[in-house]
Amino acid sequence: MPFAEFTDGLRVGHEEIDHQHATLFDAVNRLHGALRTGRSREEQGGILSFLRSYTVDHFQMEETYMKEKGYPGLESHRVLHHALIEQVMELEDKYAAGSMTLSIMTMHFLKDWLTNHIQNEDRKLAVFLRANP
Ligand SMILES: [Fe+2]
Ligand SMILES: [Fe+2]
Repeated sequence: MPFAEFTDGLRVGHEEIDHQHATLFDAVNRLHGALRTGRSREEQGGILSFLRSYTVDHFQMEETYMKEKGYPGLESHRVLHHALIEQVMELEDKYAAGSMTLSIMTMHFLKDWLTNHIQNEDRKLAVFLRANP
């Protein structure tokens, strides 16, 4: 069983959003695997960097939908996105500077953040998008 399983319960019913969430979970699993099997810093750093850039793109995609459709929760949703990006960028910088190693705690943080965000925020957005196609 993967570390972060993208279960059906995590699907919000929007094809593009679900697909990107699955890719994010996949990257978290790859990073977890690289950590667990003691892969090189280079390899771990590469996955971390992919995770950061894919997360930025994914959040932008959601925010574009919110803007286009006049989603009332845009501002608060965007604040949450922004806060995670800041944290992941800090993580990436520290990691690249050699001042930290990835920990299982970090992996749990990422997995829990994504899970909670999808269930609480992205699900609301998907419901809105279905009602406002
Ligand atoms: Fe999302
Ligand atoms: Fe989101």
